[in-house]
Amino acid sequence: MREQLLATERIIPLEWKQGVLRLLDQRLLPLQQRWLECRDAAQTAAAIRDMVVRGAPAIGIAAAYGVVLAARQHGSKSLASWRDLLAGDMQLLAASRPTAVNLFWALERMQQVLDNSSGDTCPLSELEATAQAIHQADREANLAMAQLGMEIIRRHCDAPQHLLTHCNAGALATGGFGTALGVIRAAHLAGLVAHVHADETRPWLQGSRLTAWELACDGVPVSVNADSAAAHLMREGDITWVIVGADRITANGDVANKIGTYQLAVLARFHDVRLMVVAPSSTIDMQLASGADIPIEQRSADELLQVGGQPVTTQLPAFNPVFDVTPASLVDVIVTELGVVEQPDAAKMRQLMQTGVLH
Ligand code: MRU
Repeated sequence: MREQLLATERIIPLEWKQGVLRLLDQRLLPLQQRWLECRDAAQTAAAIRDMVVRGAPAIGIAAAYGVVLAARQHGSKSLASWRDLLAGDMQLLAASRPTAVNLFWALERMQQVLDNSSGDTCPLSELEATAQAIHQADREANLAMAQLGMEIIRRHCDAPQHLLTHCNAGALATGGFGTALGVIRAAHLAGLVAHVHADETRPWLQGSRLTAWELACDGVPVSVNADSAAAHLMREGDITWVIVGADRITANGDVANKIGTYQLAVLARFHDVRLMVVAPSSTIDMQLASGADIPIEQRSADELLQVGGQPVTTQLPAFNPVFDVTPASLVDVIVTELGVVEQPDAAKMRQLMQTGVLH
């Protein structure tokens, strides 16, 4: 299965090449494939803020490379000044988006490298190696989660099934072939997928533009539906699982993910559909007790008032939180590379992070 899965790594959202971070511009996909090059941390922070690169793990990986770019730019300056300049750039990266904890997790890993280097010279090669290790570890985590998640689906039913996903938790959002979409890819290879329903995911359309495109490229049977079709689909469409990624999971198992995930979780419980959340341990924030503490990003009203850059209404006030929090009680299983947690709660999350709950 590992080799078959690796063969599905066809779409690559970010590359580190000769000291340049190259990002596949996700604002243009799938109609145009254009790469944007980042040569410093400010460009990287802007690319994260403006959604050139998006998805929690990919944001973390991009931020790590952003620190390497900062080190290349400032590292040859005198001791006091390179440390200050690097700290300023890391703050810029940290301010790019607030909800996905992978960003802060990756910056913390890079900060540890700086803290461990007491000399006058900037530890450029250690920083670069750490960013590449973060990137590679995410790829490996995708592989582990795909297999664990697929086994859970098979354990409940070994016939081909109808799945529903929201937003994009695929190759475009990670260092590999995805978290939720990794599980779906593995399930497809195992003959467990009859059809995938991709919520279009208003307002940014990650579902119709990114998820449906990714799955169609892989030959997975997929169709796009309006987000508001989900209840009808669950009643009429034989959906067995809702499978999503996460931007931050707190110590009690609450899950922040793309706006609309919470309503899917409520609908899933009502219709006896299971909810699987797939996320690497870099998405788990044991510092926050519950989802109530998660900062929820609000984006521009234009995302709602315009479609494809064209106004669809007058300049009205708009409410545009781009994430919501699903309480742990509505989650059937969290799949991580460390293991899986069924019916998550604080004790099980603690055990996962301390020892892994491997199945
Ligand atoms: O605003 P986005 O596109 O960055 O939001 C992405 C999501 O909500 C994903 O579901 C989440 O980051 C998991 S990606 C593996």
